[in-house]
Amino acid sequence: MKRTSVTIRDMKGVKKIVALTSYSHWMSTIINQADIDLILVGDSLASVMLGYKDTIPVTMNEMIHHAKAVSQANPDSLIVADMPFMSYQVSQEKALENAGRFIKEAGAEAVKLEGGKQIKDTVHRIVQAGIPVLGHIGLTPQSIHQIGGYRVQGRDPERAKNLVKDALLLEEAGAFAIVLECVPSALAKEITRKLHIPTIGIGAGPYCDGQILVTHDMLGLKTGHIPKFVKQYADLTEQIAKAIEDYKKDVTAGKFPDKEHSYE
Ligand code: KIV
Repeated sequence: MKRTSVTIRDMKGVKKIVALTSYSHWMSTIINQADIDLILVGDSLASVMLGYKDTIPVTMNEMIHHAKAVSQANPDSLIVADMPFMSYQVSQEKALENAGRFIKEAGAEAVKLEGGKQIKDTVHRIVQAGIPVLGHIGLTPQSIHQIGGYRVQGRDPERAKNLVKDALLLEEAGAFAIVLECVPSALAKEITRKLHIPTIGIGAGPYCDGQILVTHDMLGLKTGHIPKFVKQYADLTEQIAKAIEDYKKDVTAGKFPDKEHSYE
């Protein structure tokens, strides 16, 4: 069944929302087979696929290129595209124009923006134009230079209070759900209880209305640092490395191609 932003919003209190990232047609096709509720074309594309050190450099054109590939898979999941750094901060007009590009050019069905109070009017403007918005608060990687590192947010009471306020403002602005990244479980629980729209947690404990992970992290498809909150369900890097080694050995030893893989 095709999910829309309304389907996702209405899942609160009924069924846990299951979400994953994807940047490609083939991964989206596999995710679709598992009937996942929401696919995020995350700006994590920057580091996972393009080799950038963080999410800051990824451009609108790069994001659109990958969002297009995801939408071509025609998944039943709601397709959400992440608005990259500086695509929505400069002005509301630019934000609306770029959100519109994701819908018109890439086939996305909603967009995600990082931030609370400071972007609430922008969120409202995009929603007014008929584009569903997924909020994102807590650890917001596009502000990494201001935050000072990838660490849990909202541990002190003042910051926790501000995050609750941010969540309520995003709801008021018309967001259909909010991603909570790297916040203590108790704070995520409080925000989830106070909102009428669902929360989707990543490193935010078990009380959110849904969960999202970077697919490459949970499949062990990424090398380098894996955050504590990631549960790895497979180690595909090891399997791929072994397959490549075996292929190399076979070619070098003249064992591949054999009769079975050749034409008479
Ligand atoms: O870019 C991304 O993949 C994200 C998720 C971690 C929520 O924003």
